[in-house]
Amino acid sequence: MIHTEINGVSLPVLGFGTYHLRGPEGVRAIRHALDIGYRYVDTAARYENEEEVGQAIAESGLDRDRLFLATKLRYTDLEPASIEQKVQEGLKRLRVDHVDLLMPHWPSPEIPVAPIMEAFAKVRDKGYARHIGVSNFPTRHMREAIAAFDGPLFANQVEYHPFLRQSAVLEQLRAHGILLTAAVPLARGAIDAEPVLHELAAAHGKTTAQITLRWLIQQPGVTAIPKSGQAERIRQNFEIFDFALSDDEMARIDALQGDRRLVDTHWAPEWDAVS
Ligand SMILES: NC(=O)c1ccc[n+]([C@@H]2O[C@H](COP(=O)([O-])OP(=O)(O)OC[C@H]3O[C@@H](n4cnc5c(N)ncnc54)[C@H](OP(=O)(O)O)[C@@H]3O)[C@@H](O)[C@H]2O)c1
Repeated sequence: MIHTEINGVSLPVLGFGTYHLRGPEGVRAIRHALDIGYRYVDTAARYENEEEVGQAIAESGLDRDRLFLATKLRYTDLEPASIEQKVQEGLKRLRVDHVDLLMPHWPSPEIPVAPIMEAFAKVRDKGYARHIGVSNFPTRHMREAIAAFDGPLFANQVEYHPFLRQSAVLEQLRAHGILLTAAVPLARGAIDAEPVLHELAAAHGKTTAQITLRWLIQQPGVTAIPKSGQAERIRQNFEIFDFALSDDEMARIDALQGDRRLVDTHWAPEWDAVS
């Protein structure tokens, strides 16, 4: 189960997150991920590393068609009239003529969802992005996006890990055939303090990170984008396709979920209640 399919498009269930990977070390880490076999890379204008991602892809010598590349526009760059230009600037930094997935990083606190999604559809129609998704959209914003967007939306990238329940978001996305991309899938390392994950790790001869990533990608319609800057962990996080969690084991991790949200900001929308 290395790939999943959505709206007839096949993509890897596991991607490589690149937040904080900058400079020569960042290029090295992204290169390493590509060399190991990651074929899905997630970046964003805000990470200020699109150039590093572009350099790593160029150095890897990989055929562009074999890579699923995702980026996001800053929430402050969502003025509909200038979205196309912001996208072009990102493509230039990435050294590609299109991305596979383009998203607004957050809903804009000022501009309504509909005109933004209409501008994203135009960018897709011009060939700059194969698919359009969103990020950090609670169900209310997602409803508006689905209504306004011309065509199927591809994914909603939201924080999702063993300590944050996302039932409302997941239910909505599944009903519309839209992927959930799990950002912050390792809860930034906090998973390693959880005894249940250690127990399951020991039972499978895996690490708590591998158990967590397996739990995510075994859920229908969920993909995950863990980040690491360390070669050994980049490899470890990719080695999750040689075992499976039972239904009981999945349920034990489900039962850990609560309302521990790690990414919150002053521009964040009102989140769905955790139920
Ligand atoms: N849309 C959004 O608003 C949003 C928000 C946050 C993140 N994201 C995306 O999601 C990606 C992942 O999120 P994240 O980077 O915030 O957090 P994360 O992937 O949950 O965790 C990364 C942290 O865990 C450590 N780590 C990685 N692999 C490990 C392992 N096998 N064992 C123990 N620790 C490990 C990393 O340290 P080392 O690097 O030292 O290994 C790093 O400190 C980001 O890179 C970004 O692409 C999106």
